[in-house]
Amino acid sequence: MKGSGKKIIMLTAYDYPTARLIDETGVEIILIGDSIGNVVLGYDNTIPVTMDDMLHHTKAVVRGTEKALVIVDMPFMSYQLNPENALLNASRFIKEAGAHGVKIEGLMYMDAIKKIIEAGIPVMGHLGFTPQSVNQLGGYRVQGRTPDEAKMLIEGGKALEKAGVFSIVLEMVPSSIAEKITKSVSVPVIGIGAGAACDGQVLVINDILGLSLNGTPKFAKKYADISGEIKRAVSGFIRDVKSGSFPGKEHSF
Ligand code: KIV
Repeated sequence: MKGSGKKIIMLTAYDYPTARLIDETGVEIILIGDSIGNVVLGYDNTIPVTMDDMLHHTKAVVRGTEKALVIVDMPFMSYQLNPENALLNASRFIKEAGAHGVKIEGLMYMDAIKKIIEAGIPVMGHLGFTPQSVNQLGGYRVQGRTPDEAKMLIEGGKALEKAGVFSIVLEMVPSSIAEKITKSVSVPVIGIGAGAACDGQVLVINDILGLSLNGTPKFAKKYADISGEIKRAVSGFIRDVKSGSFPGKEHSF
């Protein structure tokens, strides 16, 4: 797809019905993102998300997916300890949960990335803003704005490609730098807040559905108002039960 200029579509999903619906609609990659921490589990960031959380939700997503490639985020501290521990954790997503590959943030744990790839597990890299390092990066900030940072990102992309990743997510990077990175590697670059030149785009499903209760980031586009729909449906149920119009004869035995 990169070679022929066809854009790759990736979306997050965290449960069976969402995975099934977006798979049927035709996305190429479904990511069980550790963004589940912010948008589903009610944490402030992705740091508290555990292996157990990710395994539980990956199993549900895999059950709902027939066609898409299923990739799962390795949560914070599941790959930092040592490469052997990283491989053991990655293998659980493949053997126990049925995912096709894993995603790992940053460049610091290249040995873990290589070890996992050597064992036959596809790894997707993640550069730019890496949410698990939010405390080190000083908040949710665009990365690669200075020439030094931009150079590091371009070199980082090449290092990940050399390590054998099959694709790279690029998050919150100026469009011009994202374009340079996309052109400098042969693997597909999937952008999020990284402009239109990337080989594909990824967004968090809750953001496109209008179901992110703490606000939608600037880089996301809201295609629906599911929060409003939920409130309308629940208000209708409350109204009907209080007024005695539900359940009617057609709902009763
Ligand atoms: O956790 C996540 O959802 C992600 C995407 C934003 C790429 O890493």
